[in-house]
Amino acid sequence: MSSNVAIQMQGLCKSFPIYSKPHHRLLQMFAPDKQRWFREFHALRNIDLTIQRGETVGIVGRNGSGKSTLLQLICGTLSPTAGEMQVNGRIAALLELGAGFNPEFSGRENVFLNGTILGLTHDEVASKFDDIAAFADIGEFIEQPVKSYSSGMYVRLAFAVAINVTPEILVVDEALSVGDEGFQRKCFAKINAIRDAGATVLFVSHSAGTVIDLCDRAILLDQGELIAQGTPKHVVSRYQKLLYAPANKVADVREEIRSSTVQGDVFESLPASSLRDRAPESQIEHEQAYWEEGLVSSSTITYENRGAHIEDPHLQTIDGRRVNVLATGSEYVYVYSVRVDRTLVGVRCGMMIRTVTGIEVAGAVTSHAHDAPPVIETGAVLNVRIRFRCLLAPGIFFLNAGVLAQLDEGEAFVDRRVDVAMFRVLPSPNRLATALVDLDVVPHLRVTM
Ligand SMILES: Nc1ncnc2c1ncn2[C@@H]1O[C@H](COP(=O)(O)OP(=O)(O)OP(=O)(O)O)[C@@H](O)[C@H]1O
Ligand SMILES: [Mg+2]
Repeated sequence: MSSNVAIQMQGLCKSFPIYSKPHHRLLQMFAPDKQRWFREFHALRNIDLTIQRGETVGIVGRNGSGKSTLLQLICGTLSPTAGEMQVNGRIAALLELGAGFNPEFSGRENVFLNGTILGLTHDEVASKFDDIAAFADIGEFIEQPVKSYSSGMYVRLAFAVAINVTPEILVVDEALSVGDEGFQRKCFAKINAIRDAGATVLFVSHSAGTVIDLCDRAILLDQGELIAQGTPKHVVSRYQKLLYAPANKVADVREEIRSSTVQGDVFESLPASSLRDRAPESQIEHEQAYWEEGLVSSSTITYENRGAHIEDPHLQTIDGRRVNVLATGSEYVYVYSVRVDRTLVGVRCGMMIRTVTGIEVAGAVTSHAHDAPPVIETGAVLNVRIRFRCLLAPGIFFLNAGVLAQLDEGEAFVDRRVDVAMFRVLPSPNRLATALVDLDVVPHLRVTM
């Protein structure tokens, strides 16, 4: 194994015996050689993966896809059924909650126990103890048995130990989702520092933002197979596609992902350290907008029709492809048609984009003076096309559609649909925007003395 390689696995497989009845386990113990009282469950199949020193790799996948099993094989707490695994460097792992802690021991005793498991001498742990206790910040509880800890305290202490032993390889399995936001922030800062000091970091997370922010590269596991790898942005968008696919389409989506050899943008072949520098926008291969089957609003509210029917509201690309996964910065068209049941005067058509929590982010309404004929006769169909540039930061959004007309009592909705469609804006590593709106900012920092 080259000295630049931290972890290498070839044809790695892990299966678990599954017994359909508990007593079959016992029968197996006394069974003749060829008789099997179990079936094999393949948690990982034929994984080939090389992780370079200094890389930060995100592992994503649906529940049960084999992420934790893979990390346990890397840490040596499980051994593979077949294949090879080589690990080069001292590993600190945060696997399941407090794995490696003895519940009867106090926090202090567990720090020593854990530290020595991680390869430090008693004196080395003693010299780091104050830092560890300060990082965990659990006060007097450090002297109490850990069985009395809340799950948050458990994670705080486990994390404090793992990251203060200056690991060469740090493995984190979802553990961060337990702590509060303040502690999470502290942990991410520390992970960044460990990474910047040259350590290799492996990270399981269900949070797209975390993987994109933190990792150089990501892999997607599904049903025990590694089905995609590449830039975090690329892999996370495949993962989300799989996650939102309707049940009858999952197999197709999975096959499509598996058979694609695309790995993301052109920076894939560069060494890990250079992946962290932002590249000029023009050099990045833009993520294409596409249609994702499962991304359909299930919360549509239809108001009473008063002479018009909105039909088939959807988004299109400029060249007319129907899409619901969009790229920031590109132009799209919101399209719907309006079937008119009575003569309408002063028609105006609107769109509104809202967040999952209902915040109105952006809207528009046409002008009856310019955009629609002054009178629309019964039986006519009005085709509405509202073009806009997607200046939204990554996330899920919902669309409304509404048609206004001059009725006897004044201007009123003649048809209105709320949450009629949903769409997702893809993450884009080169964008600086946070929160809801991407203003395409260009920062300029200058230091003066
Ligand atoms: N000791 C075991 N015995 C039998 N099956 C197991 C064992 N450990 C894991 N599995 C199975 O292997 C599969 C992969 O499990 P794993 O915990 O690696 O998934 P995961 O991707 O980490 O899922 P999650 O997102 O829910 O944490 C699951 O179907 C799980 O039920
Ligand atoms: Mg897991």
